[in-house]
Amino acid sequence: MSQRDLSLQTLRSLCPSEHHYLLSHWDDLDESQRRGLYEQISQVDFEGLRREFGSLPGSEGGTGTEEGMAQSVCGTSQLADLAEPPEAVRLSERTPQLLAEANLEGSRAISAGEVAMVLVAGGQGTRLGFDQPKGMYSIGPVSGRTLFQMHVDSLRGAMKKFGVSIPLLIMTGPSTDGPTREYFAKRGNLGLSDQELMIFQQGTMPAVDAKTGRILMESTSSIALSPDGHGGIVRALAKTGWFERAEQRGIKHLFYAQVDNPLVRACDPLLIGLHRLVGSQATTQVVEKRFATEKVGNVVKLAGKTQIIEYSDLPEQVARQTNPDGSLKLWAGNIAVHVFDIDFLQQCRHSAQALPFHRAHKTVGYVDEFGKTHVPEKPNAIKLERFVFDLLPAASKSLVVESLASESFAPVKNATGSASDTPETCKAALVDLHRRWLRSAGVELDEGCSVEIHPLWAWDEQEVQARFQHSARIQSDTFFT
Ligand code: UD1
Repeated sequence: MSQRDLSLQTLRSLCPSEHHYLLSHWDDLDESQRRGLYEQISQVDFEGLRREFGSLPGSEGGTGTEEGMAQSVCGTSQLADLAEPPEAVRLSERTPQLLAEANLEGSRAISAGEVAMVLVAGGQGTRLGFDQPKGMYSIGPVSGRTLFQMHVDSLRGAMKKFGVSIPLLIMTGPSTDGPTREYFAKRGNLGLSDQELMIFQQGTMPAVDAKTGRILMESTSSIALSPDGHGGIVRALAKTGWFERAEQRGIKHLFYAQVDNPLVRACDPLLIGLHRLVGSQATTQVVEKRFATEKVGNVVKLAGKTQIIEYSDLPEQVARQTNPDGSLKLWAGNIAVHVFDIDFLQQCRHSAQALPFHRAHKTVGYVDEFGKTHVPEKPNAIKLERFVFDLLPAASKSLVVESLASESFAPVKNATGSASDTPETCKAALVDLHRRWLRSAGVELDEGCSVEIHPLWAWDEQEVQARFQHSARIQSDTFFT
């Protein structure tokens, strides 16, 4: 930015007039503060804000009241129409022939270099009580490997199995970006080449005053910003120019997973194969909910489309509806493993409807245009986030694939001692799965001993079986590596 660019006039032209109050303190700022504010204002998605709230409240067309700005994901009248997801491949429908065909199709696509993987890791481990990026949390039950290592190792296992290099994209947020980059740099990218790893940062959105719709200032020189949700991935990836590079390389599908679930099989060939066989643009892997109010997104059919509705947005009586046989009507739980077509993501980046904002009422301290600091005691602000799974209804064809939770879903979300999704429940799930694999290979395992299998040693049950030609017994905690 040149000195000339830093003038108030330039900034006024960059910032729509209805937001010029952001510049109230310009004359009092030093040069570095001015640069900081310039940077922030030049990144604000003013168009998105206008689409969301219309003109600022108070001016013509504005919504004006908190009630007016409140939005629910799904209107009450629509709730009665919710049904189980259409186009679902249930576990009971997986015939050996379908499994073989889909695995072959998926394996071909991976081997041909048509698949990349993205790991979303923008959130902090607040609920876990861990003050670093969650990916750096140690979770390997025997090895102590971190969540990042578990995912990278799984991907390296896939690379070895399919004889191909697979790019890994890691999406960070403002607070996790620096530490994540440092973590990978200090550890030789955990074995990935520089060409295979791309770390990129998601965008942010300003918090706005719930009553007036005005952007809140954190200080006289900075806007109150927060991450724009994992749905920010499309915009953030587009900014890096990755879509164009992917197209040139012939990458057709993006395998998407969350950093908090080490049971994810990187680039699962079955999921990718089913996605391709039905010509889906957006596919999501689900598990059968264990109980009606389980804290997972509900994958449902609404207005003929597959959609995901967060548990917090679904009234309990709707979640509890059952079929005549007693099973849950809304059975499909979102485990946040998706496959997206690259050209579909490219279309969505130009569509405002594809990734609508979700609003969260939060308590956000701010400085007003007179320089007075406000510390509200109750929610005063709206934060805006996009959810990646809102892409599902935008797809011309989508697919839902059921998997077993014991093979695909053991997230680490809450601190030790919580009721669910703790480090202990996750480690137990990893040990249980690997004990089952070893037992299927005829290995005898002493009660209570923990086992963990490195994906480069064996990527799946079949590879474990191939490792044991003779009988074996495991008597102590063992890391197969
Ligand atoms: C999420 C899903 C839920 C699903 C569950 C499965 C949402 C809104 N809900 O819930 O439907 O059943 O996972 O485990 O996603 N992240 C970013 N940037 C952000 C926000 C989040 O990268 O701005 C990443 C986090 O690092 C994390 C993932 O997205 O890897 C999920 O975010 P989180 O807020 O933990 O979602 P959950 O409430 O666990």
